[in-house]
Amino acid sequence: MAAKDRIIFALDVGDLASARKWVDTLGTSVGWFKVGLELFCAAGPEVVELVTSSGIRCFLDLKFHDIPNTVSGAVKSAVRLKAQMMTIHLSGGARMIQAALRGADEESARLGLPKPRLIGVSVLTSLGEDDLPSVGVDKPLEDHVSGLVSLACGQGIGGIVCSPADLPFVRPLVPRGAVIITPGIRPQWSETGDQKRIATPSSAIAAGADLMVIGRPISHAPDPLDAVKRIVEEIEAVQG
Ligand code: C5P
Repeated sequence: MAAKDRIIFALDVGDLASARKWVDTLGTSVGWFKVGLELFCAAGPEVVELVTSSGIRCFLDLKFHDIPNTVSGAVKSAVRLKAQMMTIHLSGGARMIQAALRGADEESARLGLPKPRLIGVSVLTSLGEDDLPSVGVDKPLEDHVSGLVSLACGQGIGGIVCSPADLPFVRPLVPRGAVIITPGIRPQWSETGDQKRIATPSSAIAAGADLMVIGRPISHAPDPLDAVKRIVEEIEAVQG
């Protein structure tokens, strides 16, 4: 995979005009743009169309989590937006995951569109080991994450989001056909910000990440294009 295709730029802005500026600036330099809840709630499906119609692949990170029928419907709507990847919460359970996968299959076949890759989110990294009992989980975090990842991989999920710190135990559970996506990436030359469990691009790739979500190290850099170039060079150095 080309180094630039491993970079998902987090489009963490609050309106369509700002999104358009980033499309114009970085559109040909990174592989993907991530559209999350803030931007989607502000700008709606139009922002996904802005990204995909500019020839950039869209990672729609809305973390669907609802009853199977509703999630299936949401996935079908997202297929029609032509997002190439989208997230679901694995804690929705086996029937919800199945419904999401089936929804993607059915709608893409019905419309003759490429099938998007469904990406599973296990446990939010904002939840720590101490928080798990309050949501009814009485086992170590690592066991809980491993259980959800194994469940999803057994059902044919297209990929998993995880912290770079979790790669040592997540990577062996994920078949090569599925991708692992890690946020929390900080090149050595960038500010840490509010991210705690971080990794450099090269160490994340070396530990088995396929794709990386990177926001502020690019958007807050004095020269965002130069920041992307340096990240690409760092990835190339490790993947050869
Ligand atoms: O700016 P930064 O590189 O920290 O952006 C990271 C992106 O990844 C943000 O969009 C953030 O919401 C997302 N993310 C994260 N940590 C997680 C999951 C998602 O930072 N555990």
